[in-house]
Amino acid sequence: MKTLTLLLACFGFATSLMAQNFMMNPYGCEGATSLNGKWNAIIDPFSRGKAGRFYENRQAKEKSEFLEYSFEHGLRLEVPGDFNSQAPELLYYEGNVWYQRHFDVKKTEGMRQFLYFAGVSYEAEIWINGQEVGQHEGGFTPFQFDVTDLLADGTNDIVVLVNNERRVDGIPAMDFDWWNYGGILRDVFLVERATVHVLDYKVQLAKGKADTLTGHVQLAGAKQANPVKLSIPELGIEQELTTDATGKTIFTIAADPVLWTPENPKMYAVEISHGNDVVRDEIGFRTIETDGPKILLNGKPVFLKGINFHEEIPQRAGRAYSDADAAMIISEVKALGCNFIRTAHYPQNERIVRLAEKNGLMIWSEIPLWQGIEFSNPAILQKAEDMLREMVYRDKNRAGIIIWSIANETSPSDYRDKVLTELVQLTRELDDTRLVAAAFDNCRYNKETNTFFIKDKLSEVVDVVGVNKYLGWYNRFPTDPSKIKWDVAPDKPLIMSEFGGEAMFGVRGPADVAHNWSEDYQEAIYRQNYTMFANIPNLAGTSPWVLFDFRSPRRCHQKFQNGWNRKGLVSDKGQRKLAWWVVKEFYDAR
Ligand code: GCU
Repeated sequence: MKTLTLLLACFGFATSLMAQNFMMNPYGCEGATSLNGKWNAIIDPFSRGKAGRFYENRQAKEKSEFLEYSFEHGLRLEVPGDFNSQAPELLYYEGNVWYQRHFDVKKTEGMRQFLYFAGVSYEAEIWINGQEVGQHEGGFTPFQFDVTDLLADGTNDIVVLVNNERRVDGIPAMDFDWWNYGGILRDVFLVERATVHVLDYKVQLAKGKADTLTGHVQLAGAKQANPVKLSIPELGIEQELTTDATGKTIFTIAADPVLWTPENPKMYAVEISHGNDVVRDEIGFRTIETDGPKILLNGKPVFLKGINFHEEIPQRAGRAYSDADAAMIISEVKALGCNFIRTAHYPQNERIVRLAEKNGLMIWSEIPLWQGIEFSNPAILQKAEDMLREMVYRDKNRAGIIIWSIANETSPSDYRDKVLTELVQLTRELDDTRLVAAAFDNCRYNKETNTFFIKDKLSEVVDVVGVNKYLGWYNRFPTDPSKIKWDVAPDKPLIMSEFGGEAMFGVRGPADVAHNWSEDYQEAIYRQNYTMFANIPNLAGTSPWVLFDFRSPRRCHQKFQNGWNRKGLVSDKGQRKLAWWVVKEFYDAR
């Protein structure tokens, strides 16, 4: 089919087979119709569906005809939602699941219809009324297609093939420490927009300038210069702009906003319109910079009191996707006394990101370049760049996000250093207003001087160094924690981006025995780490691993883990472990 795309493109036929840049904030425009709900599904482990043309969703007509598939009369799955937690036979499933539903359309003259997916893991192929629409790879960022010419007035048929098989050339690849949830994990919309509509916009403070708004508006479908209006009523801004012939306009506007802070996460109603096409958003304004080993929020040093969490609801043992899910997670983050979150290890859904920033939480957002990635494969750089672009594109207006991170615990090599250095550069090109980081697990210890250090080219090019170090769990403390010194990237901020250890809620025991999975042992780990942190001169923040126990097929101790990583400060049933109170005490004291 790729060849067809190429041929069609050669003859100027704009095909929608490859995902396009998606529109900003479909939640904020009038023409969005939700396609969430129950979809029919077929499990297809032997990949029979394409040969069987499931995507046509035909009914047998001739007397002698029969079809060995039907979407009706069988499995039905909730969308959004992972399929693993919806049917026992799918708990560990990795393979093809076909989704199908009907939906009604009444097209409006002069308007375009777009199919918008907020996230499908890991790969999606889409058909409408038996016609191929396109495909997308990557489980954690939105994508959309212009389906106007494929839709008929009345009832239409959509089929989505989802495949969550791990792959050597995937991001993440074959091995990672979280559940391999597959499915249409996030919202699906059919969005009707004017042929010329607001596709993309950025409205932020210029780097380091608290009195200057800068950004752009990009119209889709423009063939000439067009008027655009940017209004921020509370700032007295009603700016009439004119795009160039490609539909783009760049602006710089003097303004005096109340700055977004954790204590007062001020957000402004922003409206961007072209004629009757309007997109509404709520945007906060703040500056974020580094000054040597300090992180400056609005020009003042800030200590990041953080926590890691996966996009998972432990009580449901499934992916988080709703406002209620986001509210549960963020309320637990606030209860812990945090002002910072690391949404490990992938861009999490917009509902979590938006609720976090409304609650004054600064955010480290990252793409899932996690440990064993096939950096020698040229396709990896392209895939990583696509994921990075989609992450930055989606969230570039989110004041909460202060850090883009491009990798977690990758091993230095010529290929890895080259790919990640290019990603750091691309991040800065895409967004020069935020900090760029990576998380490293390769700090080394000098026994002569009791000092941790790092030798990793990537640590020299990022703005912020994240250190993942499990002293007391995977590694023993090399000496008394109070005697350990740190000399890791001393000229830039260091965030202890992961630390901690496992405990099963309710298990008590000696604080010096690891293999009991006791809360007492986990609590001791935290106390020892906090003692050591006092000796890190450039410590700008900490984020313990992890808020909740979470699902992982790697965790096979059948008494204490049973497919759960137990490093949570809170159990999978919401119970706070002893270590939770140690972290709370550490943050409340800062
Ligand atoms: C690593 C990794 C996490 C993982 C954690 C652990 O540092 O970044 O994704 O879950 O350690 O081993 O629990």
